[in-house]
This record gives sequence, C-alpha cells and structure tokens, in this order.
Amino acid sequence: MIVVGLMSGTSADGVDAAVVDIRGTGHRLRIKLLGHYGRSYSPHIQQRILHVAERGTVAEVCHLHTLLGEVFSKTVLSAISRCGVKPAQVKLIGSHGQTVHHLPEPTVERGVGTIRSTLQIGNPAVIAERTGITTVSDFRSRDLAAGGEGAPLVPYTHFLLFRQKTATRWVVNLGGIANVTMIPCGEKLGAVQAFDTGPCNMLLDALVSVETQGRMLMDRGGRLAQRGQVHAGLLKWLLAHPYLHRHPPKSTGRELFGESYARKVLAQARRRRLSLNDLLATGCQFIARTIRDAQQWTKHEPADVVFGGGGVCNRRLWAELVEMFDPLPVQTMDDCGSSNQAFEAQAFAVLAYQTIHGVCANVPRVTGATHPVILGSVTPGSCGAAKKWSL
Ligand SMILES: Nc1ncnc2c1ncn2[C@@H]1O[C@H](COP(=O)(O)OP(=O)(O)O)[C@@H](O)[C@H]1O
Ligand SMILES: [Mg+2]
Repeated sequence: MIVVGLMSGTSADGVDAAVVDIRGTGHRLRIKLLGHYGRSYSPHIQQRILHVAERGTVAEVCHLHTLLGEVFSKTVLSAISRCGVKPAQVKLIGSHGQTVHHLPEPTVERGVGTIRSTLQIGNPAVIAERTGITTVSDFRSRDLAAGGEGAPLVPYTHFLLFRQKTATRWVVNLGGIANVTMIPCGEKLGAVQAFDTGPCNMLLDALVSVETQGRMLMDRGGRLAQRGQVHAGLLKWLLAHPYLHRHPPKSTGRELFGESYARKVLAQARRRRLSLNDLLATGCQFIARTIRDAQQWTKHEPADVVFGGGGVCNRRLWAELVEMFDPLPVQTMDDCGSSNQAFEAQAFAVLAYQTIHGVCANVPRVTGATHPVILGSVTPGSCGAAKKWSL
C-alpha cells in the first residue's frame, strides 16, 4: 500500500510529506520510503501559526484550519508527482496536522471528571476533497481520551524501524521539542520508554527571532552558537525548570516553552549581559544536557544513539550532543538509511496504515494511556476509495 504521511511540527517551519510503501500486518511491517518533499512555510504563514498557537481568536483558528488543509493538499500532490506516483495509486494519507494547543495535564471538571485536551488543525475534509484520498487525522485525541498524554506517538515507528536484537538503542528527535525513545535490546513494544525531554529548536528559533526583530528565523548551521561561550549561571537557571524534573509519562509544547518562556530566558541573559552568540551556545548545551539526563528515568543505558529532526543541522548542538554521549557512537537517521527530515512524516504514514488495519499503535507505557487504542479519525476519499474501505 502506498501511503503519504504529513507532518507539520511545533517549529512551524514547514510541512513534510513522505511517500511510503508499507506492507505486512500487525507490528511486522515492511516500510520503504519512496520519496520526500518538504514545503517551507513563508514567514507570513509561520507567523500566523505562531500567533494562533499562543493567542489566536476562534475566528483565526477556524480560518487557519482550512488554509492549512489547502497547503497540506498541495504538499501531498507535489510529493506524489515528484515520486512519479499518481493520486489513484495512493490509498491513504496520514496527516498529523499543526498543533495549536496541547494540554495533557489533567484538569478536573465538576460533574464530568478529568479532562485532557489537544488540538491539531489542517482540515482533513479539504485534504480528502482535493486529493480524493482517504485521510486519517487527529491521531492524538484517542490516546488522550484513554487517559494518556497523546504524545509522543513517533516511538511506535522508532521501534519498528530502529530496534536491534543485541543492543539497546536510543532514538532522539530534535524537533521544536526534543523527544527520546529508549528501545531495550530484543524486547517487545511494551518495553519501550519514551517522552518529551524539553525544548529544542523552538527555544533556539525564538531567541534568534526576538533578538534580531524577526530578521533571522533560525541560527542556520548553528553558526552564531559556534562563536559563543556557555554561561554556567544561565545554564543552571535553565536546568531548574520544573518540567525537566517531572517523572514520565510527560509531553510538552509551546504552552510551556513558547514565546513567553523565550522572553524570560532573554531577560535572564540580559541581566547577565550575554551576547546572542553566548545565549545560543548555552541553549545548545542546555538541550544536550536535558537529552542526556533522560538516563535518570530508565535503567536502559544505550549502546548507541540515533538522531533525527532539523536540529541535526545545527553544528553546535551536534557537537554538544557528541560530547554529552561520549564515548557512545552517535549517528543521524540519514546515516542509518532513514531520513532526518522525512522520518516524522513517515511515522504518520505508518500510523494511518495501522488505523485502517485496526491495529492499536499508541504505546500505553509511553503515553500513560490505560490501554492500547486505534488512533485517528478517518475522512473518506472519493467515492471509489470509500467503497473500497467499506466506509
Ligand atoms: N540548516 C539548519 N541549521 C540550523 N538549524 C536548522 C537547520 N534546518 C533546520 N533547523 C532547525 O530545525 C527546525 C525544524 O526542525 P523539525 O524537525 O522540522 O521540527 P518540527 O518537527 O518541530 O517542525 C527549524 O525550525 C530549525 O530550528
Ligand atoms: Mg518541521
């Protein structure tokens, strides 16, 4: 089955589409990446997403929901045409959507009980209508309804693609937020541990953007951070954040580590008279420490570590990670035959495939859900496709 996975992450840098050939049943799948297309958002769209995620009105959320549905549709069509695949050959789309709010902390509502919520936008009806392809979306909600955090969901695919028989491996995604998946050697899916370790590119991007008044949106290549010095006092302040000391299961996002957090960090940096370069260097070491510190929550010391996500392009961050894990071997997903940029999109193709095949793909030990669930909501494609799926 050819499936397209779509991912628009918390960094709001763009949307990635992965065209994937998936075969097999249960947790025994053969997964082959046929191609990938990344569409960067214009600064205008990125600013709109960031605005909506922090303080959007209902009207703005409503409008952006459909606007992103259109952008996602175009991205799917471009991705499949670049792979030489026709829309009729694609059986399914798995669209993560753009997270605009993630509230996994339980809140008690009188007369109802405990509530946890999350919201990913990018209207699946628009995607199914424009492409004619059955679309699975809203993957996180069902896990939340089952008492979980709804995140992280990529560990399932980390397990399928990166597990090893004889060595424990950690897989780390360096996205807006960083998350780690610990895969004990030779163990089953239920033994996997994973959680969001804390902020990653989201923090670095916000510091650069605020300090340059929006002239720069990222520290490309980590060039600024490369010229900076780590400030021990600020590092200690950063490491004291309560989220970092919470026991997993845990997940986080812009609500905790968005713009207002970046402004607090900047205020701390100004008090200490730090340059932007020093601030970014300190930020990179901070991120590497929060990832290495994941060890405190597991007995599974890794034999090696595989990294993916946009953060692998930041040379300073990479150098800090290499040092933090020394002498363990570290490699990127590109190095081991996968793709740094496409992996998360590929993961949502796999999750959509499992939805349609009725396979539970949350990992309750990871998300904290009370039981395994089938993730996602299905929006039928054109009539032929809908009939085929008996929808
Ligand atoms: N060439 C680069 N140099 C430095 N950082 C980069 C580079 N390319 C991407 N990044 C960082 O990676 C981020 C995007 O990573 P991504 O894995 O797409 O995260 P998300 O899943 O949150 O969207 C960008 O916002 C940027 O901070
Ligand atoms: Mg991204």
